[in-house]
Amino acid sequence: QLDPLPPVTPEFLSVLNKVCEQCYSDFAPDELEVGVREHILQDLEIFVRRQFPGAQLQLFGSSKNGFGFRQSDLDICMVLEGQETIDDINCINIIESLARSLKKHPGLRNILPITTAKVPIVKFYHVRTGLEGDISLYNTLALHNTHLLATYAAIDRRVKILCYVMKVFAKMCDIGDASRGSLSSYAYTLMVLFFLQQRDPPVIPVLQEIHDGKKPEVLVDGWNVYFFDDFKALPSHWPHYGKNTETVGELWLGLLRFYTEDFDFREHVVCIRQHARLTTFNKQWTSKYIVIEDPFDLNHNLGAGLSRKMTNFIMKAFINGRRVFGTPIRYFPPVYPSQMEYF
Ligand code: GTP
Ligand code: MG
Repeated sequence: QLDPLPPVTPEFLSVLNKVCEQCYSDFAPDELEVGVREHILQDLEIFVRRQFPGAQLQLFGSSKNGFGFRQSDLDICMVLEGQETIDDINCINIIESLARSLKKHPGLRNILPITTAKVPIVKFYHVRTGLEGDISLYNTLALHNTHLLATYAAIDRRVKILCYVMKVFAKMCDIGDASRGSLSSYAYTLMVLFFLQQRDPPVIPVLQEIHDGKKPEVLVDGWNVYFFDDFKALPSHWPHYGKNTETVGELWLGLLRFYTEDFDFREHVVCIRQHARLTTFNKQWTSKYIVIEDPFDLNHNLGAGLSRKMTNFIMKAFINGRRVFGTPIRYFPPVYPSQMEYF
């Protein structure tokens, strides 16, 4: 059972707030670094077009969603002009030939096609910047969820800071690497957004539920990717706009308490597309403990790959986090472990 937390003083909250703000400024990339990513993208597009003349490359993921780190990977999606979709066989063929061609690129190393994954990719290492990256094909839903996350990030500065703090927390606790059996950054970002939607008063709206009249239908791969993306017009479309005035520090501790004290993982789904609570029973996802629904691909549970052991490990990290961040001591400035340089 959880230890009771001592009362939080205003002084302590102000320290906590500074830690969160500092974490953001320590890890957010500057404009120069953002420009470097666009530059690599353009260079790659020119190179790839020598073999695939209609190729169009686009960045997605944290290079574009507002929650990127200096060392975040480059997530690139490639499509071919004039071609709407691609079948599995063709996709694998193109990935393999793309890999052969990228091996000739003087600025890249460690070219590795991965064709067995759900989303086939070519991985690469960009020598000059030390950035890792991957290219996937027709990853259209990912482009849309990137835009959704970017819109949430643009609504309120606190969204951005909290998502950074969450990602740093996940990396420090070693619970933020889906390829090693835990959850992806994307999954933790969804957890932060869900918390901010459920807070009273809410910090952010449910963008997929804001519309005039009937909800518009914008279908991509069979899923409705509609959401209200005109964040500048939000004040007149969302009655709670500006009502929540908590500091980032309060919200961070609030988040840790929410997921350890209030939210019932056994019963509910972390779901950012609707405000009403969705149950694991509704989704028939009762065999898993941490259930995170993708906002567009409603069959995708981001927690599906978690073992029982990993689930416990993640929950323990949250419980420890609640105790550490909820107990007034002096721990400013924050100290990160040395491996933090690498992400
Ligand atoms: P970083 O850790 O900074 O790279 O964050 P990221 O958001 O770029 O995460 P990652 O590189 O793992 O994923 C890239 C993007 O793929 C995400 O931002 C989503 O847009 C998209 N995506 C869609 N579904 C999934 C999923 O199940 N897992 C992951 N990891 N990404 C998904
Ligand atoms: Mg990424």
